[in-house]
This record gives sequence, C-alpha cells and structure tokens, in this order.
Amino acid sequence: MSKFIETDPSTLRDNPFSMLGKDWALVTVEDPDTGKVNTMTVSWGAMGVLWGKNTVTIYIRPQRYTHEFLEKTDHFTLSFYDGMRDALTVCGRTSGRDGDKIANAGLHLAGEKEYPWFEESKLVFCCNILYRSAFDPAKMADGVDEKNYPAHDYHDVYVAEIVKTLEKAE
Ligand SMILES: Cc1cc2nc3c(=O)[nH]c(=O)nc-3n(C[C@H](O)[C@H](O)[C@H](O)COP(=O)(O)O)c2cc1C
Repeated sequence: MSKFIETDPSTLRDNPFSMLGKDWALVTVEDPDTGKVNTMTVSWGAMGVLWGKNTVTIYIRPQRYTHEFLEKTDHFTLSFYDGMRDALTVCGRTSGRDGDKIANAGLHLAGEKEYPWFEESKLVFCCNILYRSAFDPAKMADGVDEKNYPAHDYHDVYVAEIVKTLEKAE
C-alpha cells in the first residue's frame, strides 16, 4: 500500500482548471446504510473558499447512481490521478448500478469510513457537505439551459468543506 501524507490544500501547486477540466477526478461516496461504495468521474467542479473554509463544489445530475449515495450522506472524497485515463473513462461511462465498475476500472479501495478513495490516487480531498441546492433554469443566462439541459436534468450542486487533504508520498 502506498504511503499518503496529510497536507494543507493552500500549499498545492496544481492548477484547478487542468486538475478538473483536463485531467478529471473521481467523486467517491459510501452508502451509510449498506457500506457500499460508488464512484464516478467528474470534470466540472470548483475549488475555493466559502464561509472561511477551503471548499470544493461538485455538480451531479440526478440520474447518477452516485447522486443516490450523496443524498444519504454528508461525506465524499474528490480524488485526482496521474493519467489513468482508461480507469476514469470506465468510471465516467458506466454506472455502479450495472456492475462492479471499481473492479472493472482496476481501482483499489482505500481510505476510511465515510471517506472512501483509491490507492491509485495522487491527491485526495476528504469532504463534508455544507450546502446542497439544485440549479434553477429560470436563473440561467440565455443559452445555458438550451445548450446543457435538453433533458431538463439540472445538476444538483454540493458545496463541501475539505476536512482532510492527502497526497501520495514520493
Ligand atoms: C470526463 C467526464 C466528466 C464527467 N463529469 C460529470 C460531472 O461533472 N457531473 C455529472 O453529473 N456527470 C459527469 N460525468 C458523467 C458520469 O461520470 C457518468 O454518468 C457515470 O457513469 C455515473 O456513474 P454512476 O451512475 O455510477 O454514478 C462525466 C463523465 C465523464 C466521462
């Protein structure tokens, strides 16, 4: 098992736009009732500061299996990888409803209760949800709804405090 060290997110040197938009990340959640873990790829998200806390914001469409998990818990992890495009593609194209996509992606579960993540990560944010809301199409600028939501499946927004940051030791 690789060694991970706890670090301070304010010392990270990676660029948040490429971390999410270009390299992608995994949102991983444990069902508090069953202990089952699900994960999905995200490339939309935000990192910043809110209410005096370091936060991430993720945007999850309601039809995702992961959404069911997020609705039951206040915790998730957001994890980042070096490459691993094939694994992240499996996690972004298949649903945990239909099989063991964690195994299919070749990922190995690590982490602790409420904060599951993967041995293959290079960086992990352990997160506690602070705020949940749904996008309101009435408040979108012209064109946003038409371009992004032909099925009216508006994302739910989860703003979460980063309570622990783990980096793979060199
Ligand atoms: C590169 C990439 C980025 C994605 N980003 C998001 C996202 O930010 N929000 C979202 O709801 N779905 C996103 N998806 C789609 C989900 O990852 C995908 O539907 C996944 O199969 C859901 O798995 P689940 O049903 O097990 O939760 C993305 C997919 C890919 C390939």
